[in-house]
Amino acid sequence: MRKKIVAGNWKMNMDLEEGIKFAGSLNEYFKNKTDVKVEIILCTPFIHLAVMKEMLNQKKLAFGAQNCASEDSGAFTGEVSARMIKSTGARFVIIGHSERRTYYHEDDLLLNKKTIQAINSGLEVIFCCGEVIKERDQEIHFAVVKKQLEDGLFNLAPEDFEKIVIAYEPVWAIGTGLTATPEQAQEMHKYIRTLVKGKYGNETAENVSILYGGSCKPSNASEIFSKPDVDGGLIGGASLKKEDFCAIVEAV
Ligand code: 13P
Repeated sequence: MRKKIVAGNWKMNMDLEEGIKFAGSLNEYFKNKTDVKVEIILCTPFIHLAVMKEMLNQKKLAFGAQNCASEDSGAFTGEVSARMIKSTGARFVIIGHSERRTYYHEDDLLLNKKTIQAINSGLEVIFCCGEVIKERDQEIHFAVVKKQLEDGLFNLAPEDFEKIVIAYEPVWAIGTGLTATPEQAQEMHKYIRTLVKGKYGNETAENVSILYGGSCKPSNASEIFSKPDVDGGLIGGASLKKEDFCAIVEAV
């Protein structure tokens, strides 16, 4: 059975004090909950990682980063390696978010290198894919996602692919208030699972968790997450508000 996951992507929000306070309040909220059957992950800015290990009950709340370097170590000023992330106690890293692809020009080849670094360092990867609105209008969104997965992930060995969670985030739905309809999400998630099946076989395809991301909020979460191939969400804006984030977790 594949895992249900809700991951919060804080993006570039929360200074150290705010992050500690917020993560502490989530920790408190989930501490005594025994009925939550969902893996909850907080993907924070790098500055928070080392304190998260001390703060969070990791049986309830896992944590991770939002990016990592494509190299292992050396003269790469400003970069943070996957091994460094792992050394903080983090379990996850997001790779291939559309904001990295767009603003930092990260292409499939680079994202593949980052993914391999992350896996070799013992991290699990939340690998993002998704089309921009023009590509959907041109009806090439399936081809776009296929290429992102083939070039970013599909050279992984089968045992390494088990460390991957896929997040489908249509770029036109990120931070815009527009959400894919549950049917649009299901259609793409099913397609992604078919691609994984073609490459890695039925068992792997059935086991991989595929998350939806893009303007998820308490009011639309239940409907999207009720679809059979939607295994949870990658949450941006709503992950910064305790009530919203907790309500989304409960919707899953
Ligand atoms: P929003 O939930 O703010 O649309 O962001 C989604 C996202 O980019 C998560 O990675």
